[in-house]
Amino acid sequence: MSTTQVSISPEEVKASQQLARRPDPCVVVIFGASGDLTKRKLLPALFHLEQSGMLPKEFAVVGVARRPLGDSFAQDMREGIVSGGGVDEKDAKLGPFIDRVKYHAMNFDDDGGYEQLKTTLAGLDQKYGTKGNRLFYLATSPEYFADIVNRLGAHGMNTPPQGADWARAIIEKPFGHDLDSARALNDDVNKVFSEQQIFRIDHYLGKETVQNILVFRFANGIFENVWNRNYIDHVQITAAEEIGIEGRGPFYEQAGALRDVVQNHIMQLMSFVAMEPPGSFDAEQVRIEKMKVWRAIKPIPVSDAARGQYGPGTVAGEKVIGYREEDRVDGDSQTETFAALKMEIENWRWAGVPFYVRAGKRLAKRSTEITIQFKQPPMRMFHENQANCGIEPNIISMRIQPDEGIALRFGAKVPGPSMNICPVKMDFSYAAAFGVSSANGYERLLLDAMLGDATLFAHRDGVEATWALMTPILEAWKMRHKRFPNYDAGTWGPEVADDLIERDGRKWKNT
Ligand code: BG6
Repeated sequence: MSTTQVSISPEEVKASQQLARRPDPCVVVIFGASGDLTKRKLLPALFHLEQSGMLPKEFAVVGVARRPLGDSFAQDMREGIVSGGGVDEKDAKLGPFIDRVKYHAMNFDDDGGYEQLKTTLAGLDQKYGTKGNRLFYLATSPEYFADIVNRLGAHGMNTPPQGADWARAIIEKPFGHDLDSARALNDDVNKVFSEQQIFRIDHYLGKETVQNILVFRFANGIFENVWNRNYIDHVQITAAEEIGIEGRGPFYEQAGALRDVVQNHIMQLMSFVAMEPPGSFDAEQVRIEKMKVWRAIKPIPVSDAARGQYGPGTVAGEKVIGYREEDRVDGDSQTETFAALKMEIENWRWAGVPFYVRAGKRLAKRSTEITIQFKQPPMRMFHENQANCGIEPNIISMRIQPDEGIALRFGAKVPGPSMNICPVKMDFSYAAAFGVSSANGYERLLLDAMLGDATLFAHRDGVEATWALMTPILEAWKMRHKRFPNYDAGTWGPEVADDLIERDGRKWKNT
């Protein structure tokens, strides 16, 4: 069964995409602009905002990187917007938008370069009326974050120039690589920018389906009553990818799945599933409730953590190489491309309800999904027999991507004279209901940063709380070598991850 009823027309969907207020005039300055992220995600996101009339009219982008790219940068960004952003090359807004995309070549440790950048930005203010407001986006490799922030401070770029209203900084992940480094980076950044000026980005928080977790729970009367240990057996969160490391060998060798996806994206998802209703939907209230969840998580014993690394295999019908054969990866690498954890939240709502989470590359299917499995009814009135498909527990699955939606599984009587029961599904699909596919997350977050709204960004103490949970596991893993590879590309991960959940009498839901 698949049903989707909506009482909202396409015009109403469009109207709800209009902004209450547009951001102030500003220049977005992207450090590390020659990297993939800028071309594949950031510029397409900015152009989508332009298409929907959400960017200020007085606007410009400056890409900053070391290579002398000159005008080829704007051309490259145009290609990224067309191919990555699915934009028609003939879109009338594209040309004028690209005219406002500039490039500034400099070394990140060159003080002269910052002074020249200031002059360039002042020139753009004159030309485009951007009024001195600056949104710095740090998309470099993480080892440059602290130095760039320091130098922005040393050159007075952390405060708005005369006549301007704001200077803000978005900082990409990974924010640190363990608890100590995250603390040190926070200290460095907070010396230069106040917490109100800093936007630590986690693009998962910009995804419509992730924000919808809060709407599902707190804007509906029926779910919250059962959202607790009395009714829920356990929760699963899966972030499965088909792709491998996509040429990012040196980065991934230092990161691994726990740092790359679990510490940030998965922990954010978990906080949305588990948090108490905030007093209101604003940055401070949401931050407080998320923090309470992370602080209530019991330290995770290493026996509740599983890791894996993919070997060669077949993904989506294509043969792929193993992780150790990837470009610029150590032939004996100990980096995990899969991580799974069992976590327990020690609070009134969740005591005794395990959260099983996993993330991995080169798995059987791309799927990010949250599964809430409910307890069975207290009494089995309908006996299972051969004709039954089985009396299975109720499940709410929240599909974050792809195929975004929410499904409820329940048992229904099979037509006929016997009391046979089969699991069926009520299914809500975003695309079918609203006729729009959701954006990649960056649009919403870039817009929010321009508007100064930090509700969907990570805060200092949240970053540290999640690193505090991950760091002991990372340290334990570093000490104990694992026989890798331990799963074939194209499967659902290593056996140790199955053991982690099956020893509790439960099973992963592989979609
Ligand atoms: C990034 C990770 O943060 O998230 C990548 O660095 C990962 O390794 C990506 O592939 C997944 O994002 P999405 O939006 O495709 O699920």
